[in-house]
Amino acid sequence: MNHYHYLYRPKPKAMTQPIEGFSKLTKEQKIDWLTTHYTTDPEAAKALLKRYWNVVEDVQQLHDEFIENTITNYYLPLGIAPNFLINNKLYAIPMAIEESSVVAAASKAAKFWLDKGGFKTQVLGTEKIGQVHFMYHGNKERLTAFFEQVRPKLLSDASAITKNMEKRGGGINKIELRDKTEALDHYYQLHCTFETLDAMGANFINSCLEQFAKTLKAEAQSFPLFSEEEKAIEIVMSILSNYVPDCLVRAEVSCPVDELKGGSSESSRQFAEKMVQAVNIAKVEPHRAVTHNKGIMNGIDAVVLATGNDFRAVEAGIHAYASKDGPYTSLTHAAIENGTFKFWIELPLALGTIGGLTSLHPLVKLAMEILGKPSAQELMQIVAVAGLAQNFAAVRSLVTTGIQEGHMKMHLLNILNQLGATEDEKKTLTHHFKKHSATHNAVVEAFEKLRNTK
Ligand code: MEV
Repeated sequence: MNHYHYLYRPKPKAMTQPIEGFSKLTKEQKIDWLTTHYTTDPEAAKALLKRYWNVVEDVQQLHDEFIENTITNYYLPLGIAPNFLINNKLYAIPMAIEESSVVAAASKAAKFWLDKGGFKTQVLGTEKIGQVHFMYHGNKERLTAFFEQVRPKLLSDASAITKNMEKRGGGINKIELRDKTEALDHYYQLHCTFETLDAMGANFINSCLEQFAKTLKAEAQSFPLFSEEEKAIEIVMSILSNYVPDCLVRAEVSCPVDELKGGSSESSRQFAEKMVQAVNIAKVEPHRAVTHNKGIMNGIDAVVLATGNDFRAVEAGIHAYASKDGPYTSLTHAAIENGTFKFWIELPLALGTIGGLTSLHPLVKLAMEILGKPSAQELMQIVAVAGLAQNFAAVRSLVTTGIQEGHMKMHLLNILNQLGATEDEKKTLTHHFKKHSATHNAVVEAFEKLRNTK
């Protein structure tokens, strides 16, 4: 048992009381209250928070208003992975991410495939989903008859919401009544599908669903075949689903096995076989699959974030898709067919390139410009490629040098930056740690030794 904590635990500060009306305080007041009650050096904390404010007042105000109770900005690096050849078009892909080796790995994979035909992609579907969940106590046939009668009214009552989307070629695709009573007593749903074009569509879908719910509830009141109990349809909630298995994109790379390593065909074949084995392991072993897919998400999330899309939605949908057939499995696939190595990914991505942050955040707008102002479908393809490239880079390292080589290089640089090493010192120590293990202690010791010998 460790007694250290008992002996040296600092005295707790006086209990902080709950605060009323925090959201109504000004930003300065919020910071004052926060730093006084929750930090040991309020002046230093205030100065730090303010150092991260944008110097341009309008830009700061824009960020302040994205959420409630903003006190400052939280920076993530925005990097660029160039040389991505996708369907014969060259892209430089913006990535917002803190993990040190991700952009370097993406760039390396892009370069690797650049002279091998690049990435080929295809959108397999763009269908979004939303549901009205409700409880109905009564006869199923009568509910079905009611639904058939009310369906046109569901659509016409939502026409004010759908008008603009329909003009552009999107809208509501289908509304189905689903009986879920086997899973939960009295539970039914309207399962609805949508085409939202270049918009992610969350607001559009949720507005449609809430209107469907209102119409459903109101019309049930006057459906002549319903008993009083049947009329009392109880709407539980109306919300889009982030599980969109038919909003699907595929990206792939392939090349003759002999070209994989540029060296001997023997080592190329071994490498290809190991890549396939590694993917096959991720297919059958969920522990590995989760990490394998995490590496894919390193690429996906970074581009999703840089382009102002909702990475939580994307994450939730993709992981659900990874277990669509039961056990959680790999999102990528690899095969060797007639001397050709093939590596591909298929995953759901509900993205938008208009609306939301995409028209508000200055850096998101720039990221979109760098990508050539893509449509949502084009962005799906770019993001899928970023995921595939990331997985290729990670698995390639894993089956060849091991992951630590690349990771430790960046890790070493991070430690040296923290220590305030000069460029010369970084060069010397990077060289030194090619042959030594770069643990935190070893780096600090080597750094201090180098300084002291000067
Ligand atoms: C680290 O962020 C990602 C990897 O663990 C992915 C993988 O193991 O495939 C390297």
